[in-house]
Amino acid sequence: MTQATLYPVPETIKQRAHVTNEQYLEMYRGSVEQPEAFWNEHGKRLDWIKPYTQVKDTSFALGNVSIKWFADGVLNASVNCLDRHLATRGGQVAFYWEGDEPGVEKKVTYRELYEETCQLANAMRALGVGKGDRVTIYLPMIPQAAVALLACARIGAVHSVVFAGFSPDALGSRITDCDSKLVITTDQALRGSRATNLKDNTDIALAHLGDANPVQNVIVIKHVGKPIDFHQGRDLWYHELIAAQPKECAPEPMNAEDPLFILYTSGSTGKPKGVLHTTGGYLVYASMTHQYVFDYHDGDIYWCAADVGWVTGHSYIVYGPLANGASSVMFEGVPTYPSVKRIAQIVDKYQVNILYTAPTAIRALMAHGETPVEGTNLNSLRVLGSVGEPINPEAWNWYHDKFGKGNCPIVDTWWQTETGGILITPLPGATALKPGSATRPFFGVKPAIVDNEGKTVTGAGEGNLVITDSWPGQMRTLYGDHERFEQTYFSTYPGSYFTGDGSRRDEDGYYWLTGRVDDVLNVSGHRLGTAEIESCLVAHEAIAEAAVVGYPHDIKGQGIYVYVTPRVGVEPSEDLTKAIRAWVREEISPIASPDLIQWAPAGLPKTRSGKIMRRILRKIAANEHDQLGDISTLADPSVVEILVNNRLNRK
Ligand code: WT7
Repeated sequence: MTQATLYPVPETIKQRAHVTNEQYLEMYRGSVEQPEAFWNEHGKRLDWIKPYTQVKDTSFALGNVSIKWFADGVLNASVNCLDRHLATRGGQVAFYWEGDEPGVEKKVTYRELYEETCQLANAMRALGVGKGDRVTIYLPMIPQAAVALLACARIGAVHSVVFAGFSPDALGSRITDCDSKLVITTDQALRGSRATNLKDNTDIALAHLGDANPVQNVIVIKHVGKPIDFHQGRDLWYHELIAAQPKECAPEPMNAEDPLFILYTSGSTGKPKGVLHTTGGYLVYASMTHQYVFDYHDGDIYWCAADVGWVTGHSYIVYGPLANGASSVMFEGVPTYPSVKRIAQIVDKYQVNILYTAPTAIRALMAHGETPVEGTNLNSLRVLGSVGEPINPEAWNWYHDKFGKGNCPIVDTWWQTETGGILITPLPGATALKPGSATRPFFGVKPAIVDNEGKTVTGAGEGNLVITDSWPGQMRTLYGDHERFEQTYFSTYPGSYFTGDGSRRDEDGYYWLTGRVDDVLNVSGHRLGTAEIESCLVAHEAIAEAAVVGYPHDIKGQGIYVYVTPRVGVEPSEDLTKAIRAWVREEISPIASPDLIQWAPAGLPKTRSGKIMRRILRKIAANEHDQLGDISTLADPSVVEILVNNRLNRK
């Protein structure tokens, strides 16, 4: 392997940084050798109603997995994000909101955010929503999304945000899984001038649930002004509700281990999993990582261009930055509307110092050469961030040169919905960078690489990435299914948390994430289970069996390659192929839209015991059919030849 170029820490960054390399090494050692003492100290970054006396109480032992941090402490997350800033920064902007259309914008100060949060919290209490109740939030990137999360936190309700790109059925199944009493949504979402009717989708979702519908009320935010069907007695206008409420609301005292939110994510099997995060450890970890990983300082303008529907939005648009009293940009739209210059223009407009986005967005811009930065200045930028998938060195270099002008460190942050916050990442003032490497663990994080037998790989090597001890931001369970939680994360390599990712570690101890080792796809940074898409496909009347695999895609990272066997009597056609693509978009989401659909009338390659051999399907999809390996265990090797001959990815 050729030596990767090393980018040392720029001097100007080092001078103002929270930690230098020497400090990182010392703090890291302390954090893993004496986690109790380390987190006892750093837990104090929050305001506690009743300070904790216990710090770490965790076990990864299969059959007895239990994770508790700061267990006897009492706090409220919204108080930490709002109230405690009022005296010093009530008039400071919390969010510079930039609408989908340029020129549509709004500023929200900490005081305004506090008052509106209290009003909504009071309104929810008046509707009978209280501590422990679940609330589903189905909103685009508007300031009320932050208000909705914080209002739930204020009264101890557990929020479950469903990404606004999900279909009515996906919304409905997430509502019933956690038994939500209340949905908060809006008339319409706008992204790149395309509108999605979120209230209509909610109506459809609830109608489909029929008697199983647990929802008593739907709060509707008037955002675009599109007319909606109003269900008397169930639906309520947000602006009418909050106008009637006082701008103060007593916060619910929450135990550190009381649930803060559920966020559904895709696994390798079965239906989406409700990842559950609790209050104290999550907030300590989200706020601490936000400060150190982005080297955030008071007065910085910070922009995380993610969506609140994903964990990145939870931890690094809402909870982390607000707990730290940051001023953030919140963007409703997409990087390419009205032109590919939009990101750079927003950076200049708000003089953004820290920009956090995804490799897929960078690659989409990179395809346009210089244009995305033409006529812009970008001199305010100091730190750049990347998240969601491995960033390829070409995209890293483009981001570094065009946005960073060669002098902004890129923090390539590796983490997951399950981890609550960033686990492997450079720190701007401490870490020399190698393009494509997420580098080293954050404080308190103990990664290890194991082979398929679970044997630990020491020194430089490659294998499966596990984490051998708990950190405060870790998920606590899968909502309503602790058994599945243990099976999914703690049974593969007993005693460790299994990430589902592969990784290499080089001679400097740097980690290079190589992608999922399970049947989970990462399409444009969106996580999708192959099983989920397959079960959607076989629910279509024309399809007998289906297999879904990922293949390398220039912009999306991974594309979705679908093999489908028609039912007897069904004749594959272009129209049917189109109809199947539309079916997946409607049933799950446009983000799950198959890129390539190959008909397999002769069936799929199976072992003699009837198991589909995905390894072979992945090779064909990747156009690597000359490396199929051993196919002698197949029941009928001839189907492979037919699939290879009709393959769709031929570049
Ligand atoms: C999966 C988690 C973390 C918030 C967004 C995605 C992949 C994420 C990186 C990175 C390589 C990455 C992993 C991980 N991933 N960040 N910097 N380098 N891979 O959260 O939907 O839970 O997906 O995204 O495969 O397991 P998520």
